[in-house]
Amino acid sequence: MFAAAILVLGLAGIVGFRLLTGSPLSKIPGPAITTFTDVWILIHTYFERRNRLIHKLHQEYGPLVRLSPHEVSLSDPNSIKQIYVNNYDKSQFYFLFDNYGVTNAFSAIERQVHAPKRRVMHQLYSKTAVTAPGVEQCIRERLARAARYFEESHKESKAIDILQLFRSIAMDVVTAFQFGGDHGTDFIRNVSERDLILGKYSVQAQFWFIGPYLPSLAKYILPKAFVEALTFTDAWNLDNLRRSGLPPDSAAKKLIDGGFSELETASEIADHVVAGHETTAVALTYLCWHVAKHPEIQDKLKSEIRAACGPSDGKSPCSVLPAFKDLDKLPYLAAVLQETLRLYAPIPASEPRVVPPSGYWYSPSSSEYGSKASSVFIPGGTVISMQPWTLHRDPSVFPDPETFDPDRWLKSDSEALHRMNRSFMTFGAGIRMCVGMNLAMEDMKFITAFIFSKYTAKLGAETTDDSMYMIDRYSTRPKANACYVEFAER
Ligand code: HEM
Repeated sequence: MFAAAILVLGLAGIVGFRLLTGSPLSKIPGPAITTFTDVWILIHTYFERRNRLIHKLHQEYGPLVRLSPHEVSLSDPNSIKQIYVNNYDKSQFYFLFDNYGVTNAFSAIERQVHAPKRRVMHQLYSKTAVTAPGVEQCIRERLARAARYFEESHKESKAIDILQLFRSIAMDVVTAFQFGGDHGTDFIRNVSERDLILGKYSVQAQFWFIGPYLPSLAKYILPKAFVEALTFTDAWNLDNLRRSGLPPDSAAKKLIDGGFSELETASEIADHVVAGHETTAVALTYLCWHVAKHPEIQDKLKSEIRAACGPSDGKSPCSVLPAFKDLDKLPYLAAVLQETLRLYAPIPASEPRVVPPSGYWYSPSSSEYGSKASSVFIPGGTVISMQPWTLHRDPSVFPDPETFDPDRWLKSDSEALHRMNRSFMTFGAGIRMCVGMNLAMEDMKFITAFIFSKYTAKLGAETTDDSMYMIDRYSTRPKANACYVEFAER
């Protein structure tokens, strides 16, 4: 009773204070309750409705929407430059992505803390570095290990969980990159280690809400199960780093040579291991699921990949996969992947930044987003974000946005294509854009080409549109946390 009374009094106090002083964001459109409190958006976030709700708010109120007394969401590609390319500082949302109590490139809030880390990482993950023969060989070896799962599916006519398999392949690739070819995980073959470690990451993922959305309380209220799982994976990661002996071709060695301490290196790597395996696996799962659902897309994809294997009728399975430089040139493969990353962005949610003290005059710069006369001042200190979920579903940029249509990336005229690329934010934007993008793209193209060069995919009975519903969090995955697909050798 006493606690409830305090809560009611507290809320009444906040509302009264806001009524007297007025919210600095009161001129920005949005539900009335958001002028007074951030509890409203937090409740929707907690109940996993946030991305879809923000999308609806943009449809109702336009490109700029108030989410709380100090937070707005913007959905206007013309402002990507202002916010992300001009590199506003990140918000406290990212605070809990520190590892070992040490900041890493992803969790760094201020640009001056981020810049020196990014400089080192930029070279590590450049396209030249990740397409070096050693990395390509490493991916091929992991695919050869994974081949038996597809063969079993074919021989026994059984559907396999591709999400779990893609997690294993992506983890084996990303850890080989971090610790050197022989020191990465072997989750593809070592199923008990895979289940143990991915199980610990799943426990951490269950508590996705507290750290990012309640950063100031997180230290005090994080559940014991989360802390235990985190302690376990932190120790596992540090142990992998120390046991690797830092081979010269490993990312870890290059970070140390770039001036990172052991804990700074471990903090980066722990982040890349998580960022690298889950996102890649989720994107590949949605790609395979869609292709399995649409035979006409599957046939086109198979023909293109098979024709690239050498002199062939484009129908017979390939015996050897083409070099990555050739796979990378295949237009339909690129279009299918791009369309997957548009509609099923593994990180579909707000990427929050803080408006600098001078504030930001938002002025819609094209008629689709409002008239220039409707400029609004967003004061310094406001949390401002864009979300790929909405940018990628804007019908003025992506006609019929809910339709999975790879051809939109191949058949649109150059102006439409320019607008689509400008709105595409799956990997973020500006200098804080995903540093692992080249590695992820190589991984995804290789794995897709490997599958469709040899197999035809058919949906398992367990997998439905409902089981593949994208859960509404910062990073998504299918609701069932599994996707069953059967592969036949033809
Ligand atoms: C499909 C796969 C991936 C997707 C969709 C993805 C998405 C993203 C996004 C959206 C951001 C920016 C987040 C923000 O500003 O809020 C980001 C940043 C980052 N990603 Fe990825 N990522 C993927 C794969 C990877 C891989 C494979 C790695 C590393 C091996 C990686 C490492 C990072 C790092 C270190 C950052 C922070 C960069 C910085 O601030 O300088 N990601 N990623």
